[in-house]
Amino acid sequence: MGSKISATGHYLPEQVITNDDLAKIMDTSDEWISKRTGIRQRHISKDENTSDLASKAALNILQNRNITADQIDFIIVATMTADAASPSTACLVQEKIGASKAFCFDINAACSGFVYSLSTGIHLMQSNLYQYGLIIGAETMSKAVNWEDRSTAVLFGDGAGGVLLERTEDDCFVAEDIHSDGGRHGALVSDTRKLTSPFGGTVEEEQSYLTMDGRAIFDFAIRSVPDMIRDVMLKGNLVEGDLKKIIAHQANIRLLEAISKKVKLPFSLFASNIADTGNTSAASIPILFDQLVQSKEIQLGTKDKVLMTGFGGGLTWGAIVISL
Ligand code: ACO
Repeated sequence: MGSKISATGHYLPEQVITNDDLAKIMDTSDEWISKRTGIRQRHISKDENTSDLASKAALNILQNRNITADQIDFIIVATMTADAASPSTACLVQEKIGASKAFCFDINAACSGFVYSLSTGIHLMQSNLYQYGLIIGAETMSKAVNWEDRSTAVLFGDGAGGVLLERTEDDCFVAEDIHSDGGRHGALVSDTRKLTSPFGGTVEEEQSYLTMDGRAIFDFAIRSVPDMIRDVMLKGNLVEGDLKKIIAHQANIRLLEAISKKVKLPFSLFASNIADTGNTSAASIPILFDQLVQSKEIQLGTKDKVLMTGFGGGLTWGAIVISL
């Protein structure tokens, strides 16, 4: 017994901001952004917070499976841009979609969050205690970045995507390889909070904006992700021909090309939508996953194998192979 992914869905805010739009408000250009990253545009929320995007993706998933929210046993939201530290974004989603019997929690593993959450959800389902679990990745990165810092502002976008795990005889789980290195936490930091009690602490100014050492993350990803892909394939006893698609976190197209070269797997195996969405952190993998399902490049129920891999702040990195 175990689970399969029986439906997918996503939601992107309506407003699209192109590289040329950004060049009007900061010292940058379409040429620099598209050449260095592959990004041409991103969706930026006007008035919807992370829980709104996540709820719309969740409703899209339920509609695609034709079930109601009150059938859901648990909701996990992967996010580094929660509406609040408490309640969790997952609890807000529960209220917004009416998933009255679900238990709900968030997982924060930055851009690896969806892989961490899918792994957690799949292993929860292996307990045989649940019928349906919703796994969502959702971010409003637009509220985390400093719009006066061109080195990060041009990279990120907003969005949400997710999958429905449904109890089945066969388990979709094939293999996983998941890591963290808190020793390198300084490479990506966002929304730090200082101690401010009258019994100690400090009242120095807080640094809430996201700061990232892009070069360090690039180098870390080039070193660690190919090794992880090799390791997860080894664990799953898989060779190149066994994989239908690799759905990697969408941070930079040059990074994906470098990873593909290093791991000696054809670039055509790596799906990409970064040109249209930018880096949506924990949402990037499930948005792309749903787009591939909708375009029929991958099909649920075929037992084709898909490798998903995320990497980012923490540092965190993880890969999971599932059978569709
Ligand atoms: N427009 C124009 N010029 C710019 C911009 C911009 N938006 N941003 C930086 N520059 C300039 C810099 O000032 C620098 O100028 P200088 O040479 O005169 O000093 C020059 O461009 C080169 O800057 P670099 O930072 O060295 O550029 P690089 O080629 O490293 O690309 C990038 C930067 C795109 C951020 C890259 O390092 C990257 O993609 N890193 C990976 C990021 C990543 O994967 N993040 C995932 C984790 S995210 C998460 O966990 C939420």
